[in-house]
Amino acid sequence: MGFSEHIWMVGEGPWSTVVLVAENIPLPMKKGFGKTDRIDAWWKGPTAMVFYLGIMIIYATWRGFMEADFWIFSEFGLSGNQGGSAGTMAIEEGSHILSPLFSPLILPGEGTLGGPIPEWMWWMSPAMFILIFPAGFRGTCYYYRKAYYRVFFQHPTACAVSKPWNAYKGETGLLVVQNLHRYFMYAALAYLPLLSWDVYLAARHDGGTWVISVGTLVLALNVLMLTGYTLGCHAFRHIIGGGSNDWTSTPIARLKYKLWNFSTKLNEHHKDWALYSLFWVMFADFYIYACTMGWWTDAVLLGGA
Ligand code: FES
Repeated sequence: MGFSEHIWMVGEGPWSTVVLVAENIPLPMKKGFGKTDRIDAWWKGPTAMVFYLGIMIIYATWRGFMEADFWIFSEFGLSGNQGGSAGTMAIEEGSHILSPLFSPLILPGEGTLGGPIPEWMWWMSPAMFILIFPAGFRGTCYYYRKAYYRVFFQHPTACAVSKPWNAYKGETGLLVVQNLHRYFMYAALAYLPLLSWDVYLAARHDGGTWVISVGTLVLALNVLMLTGYTLGCHAFRHIIGGGSNDWTSTPIARLKYKLWNFSTKLNEHHKDWALYSLFWVMFADFYIYACTMGWWTDAVLLGGA
């Protein structure tokens, strides 16, 4: 159904008034899944998105359940099958490299963060404790909602394209969980210093040596991409600037304006940050995986042995 506007003139002469009357009448749209009057290749974007999101989800799930090949710690050795051999990321005294899919490292049933986890949950992979927050953040993101509602649920299929079902109830029922986005955003903000700390540990080994390798840069770029994505979040932008009508009277107000402006600039390209940062976090994990397996050799660019 759509709205149709009828124009009525009420009164006469200079006192006449235009009245718009809206009626709820069906729009002349073709019926039947995928039917449309559009003549552009509207299906190309959604089709590409199905593959892109599908591959990312399958990869993250596969790696999440793998529970191996995601660290290179001098104190533990490789988590992969290659032993402590050369040819992997900056292997030397004090190396500490952790995949972003598994950071912060939670080993169920073992010291520090994993200690308090009850025994019945020890079967879970370290990634399962971690990924719930980034996955929740992305899953409730305004941009991703648009993307996956279209490609996975055909709701809608595309603008002015007929969809297979009609009932639109908005984000009600189970979808009220989308309202948690702001809280997932708080968790996502906490990941930024954690992942930055991982970059520091990857570059500054225990012995005090600085080692910058391609892998270090891969991890650093990951933090940069995630920062661009997180700080451009609509909820973040609202938190720092929403409801403000004073941008100038105090230093705090001016700072808020600067932050809001910065967030707005990132927000204008939120889709790009969302898609590229997703790819890069998976690539960073794959880089470490490939190095632990001995498929790739991480080139040390600066410092090290
Ligand atoms: S709207 Fe996309 S991350 Fe918040």
